[in-house]
Order: sequence, then structure tokens, then C-alpha cells
Amino acid sequence: MPEIRVAPFSEHLGADILGADLTKPLDDAAMKAIVGALHDYGVIRLRGPFMPDINLVNFAQRFGTSKYSLSEFVDKCHPELVIVSNVEVNGKTIGLKDAARKWHSDLSYMKTPNPISILYAHEVCKQGGGTQFVSMYRAWETLPKDMQERLDGLEAVHSIENYGFTGKDGMPAEQRKNYPEVTHPVVVVHPITKRKALYVSEGTAIRILGVSEAESRELLDFLFEHSVRDEVMWTQTWQVGDILVWDNRCTMHKQTDYDPTERRLMKRATVMEVFPGI
Ligand code: SIN
Repeated sequence: MPEIRVAPFSEHLGADILGADLTKPLDDAAMKAIVGALHDYGVIRLRGPFMPDINLVNFAQRFGTSKYSLSEFVDKCHPELVIVSNVEVNGKTIGLKDAARKWHSDLSYMKTPNPISILYAHEVCKQGGGTQFVSMYRAWETLPKDMQERLDGLEAVHSIENYGFTGKDGMPAEQRKNYPEVTHPVVVVHPITKRKALYVSEGTAIRILGVSEAESRELLDFLFEHSVRDEVMWTQTWQVGDILVWDNRCTMHKQTDYDPTERRLMKRATVMEVFPGI
């Protein structure tokens, strides 16, 4: 296999992986280079020709175990994958529709979120329908020192209700039972890089514990705005066949708007448990 090359998009976030052929098993050296780039840049892209989903499944299996709990949208042929799509068949969407409207890191409303996500483009929009990323390392590192001291050691409550159920009826009772609110530290330490990253998103973080309601609101609003400044952002413009791998422990993401008459179809491996060193 030709040597893997890493072409960063910027100093802190995003890189293209060149020279990886996912139609063949990747050797250990190639995997090491890919995982190293993921740790260095938070999100990596493999841009290649469209290939069968089995190659994505095989690739995802090199990171750990993938599964997704909302069985309705699990891919029938490859249960390791979940469909992310606005495409409708018989009046019903075939996948998670617009699953990323708000800034979030995946499954942060769960006690144990998935560390890594891998998204594969089947059908893309002619305009828009991209995915924006920010580095939460940089969000933390660029906070004033006194703010870092104020936040370190605090915890925040996260809720799926805030993410997807803001309509007048709120979240169905059944869902509420399945997804109770959870808490996570406001700043987390990445288990491999040992760097600190901010871990609150407008998508799921609803309250900071141990401070007044008013202070919690003020802090969250400040942190949401601080995290998504242009200088820490990278936007993926999708091409069919693109694969993005991102690390939810140090990035947040969000989809960009698109014309709803366009078809957008992706498949995602939700890597729930990663292998040691990843
Ligand atoms: C996701 O959050 O997994 C999906 C991102 C996207 O649809 O752009």
C-alpha cells in the first residue's frame, strides 16, 4: 500500500488523508498514520471514489465497535450503519432527517457518548448541506485564564429534549424515559492526547450545575458563542464518496442549510467503543 500522507486544512482542525485505499485491508502502519492525524486534527477526510458500504464497515471496524440504538434507521444490510437522510419513501424519511441542526458532539445526551463518528456520502446537495466543525481544544485554550479557572471542575446537564424536541408538545413520554438527563464535566481531558477540551454544546447542554440559574445561562451563552468563531471552524463541502471521521471528544459539528427539495443521503458508523490507543 502507498504511504499515507496527511494534508492539514489548518494548524488546528481538519486534514485530508491521501493514499488510503479502503477497498483493501489497511495495514497497521496506515491505520497508525490515520489515527495519529485524527488525534492531531480532530476531523479527517478520505476523498475517494464511491465504493460499497462493506468497505466503510470494514474501515469503521478498525476503530472499534459501531452500533446505534434507534433501530428504525439502522441500515438493513449493514446493522453497524445508521442512515442519515432527508429522502422519503412512501411519505416517510428513510433515515435520521437533519440530525445535526444545532451544534453538538454526537450522543452527548447519553451517559457514555460515542467517541468517534464516521460519515459516508451517498448523495449530496448541489448547494449547501455541508457539515461544519469546530475544535473544542481551541475553544478551551482560547478562553481567558480566569474563565478557565471558573469552569474547571464544573459539570453541565445535557438533554436530548433540547436537541430535537422544541415543538409545543416537547419530547414524547416514552423517549423521555429512555433518555433521562445526564451530566458531563464542562471541560474534559482527552484520554489519548491528554489535552483539555470544552464539552458543552447548544444542542444538548442546558444547565451548569453549582451556579445560579442566571449565571448558568450567562456562562452557556458565552461559551456557545465563543466555541463557534470562524477562526476555529472548518466546513466540509461534500462530494459523493467522501468519508469523514471525527472525534466527538474534542470537536463539535453542525450541518449547513440546504434546499429541502434536494436529496441528501449519508451512512454513519457510530463507534461506541474504541480500541485501546484510539
Ligand atoms: C451527524 O451529526 O452525525 C450528521 C452530520 C450531518 O448530517 O452533516
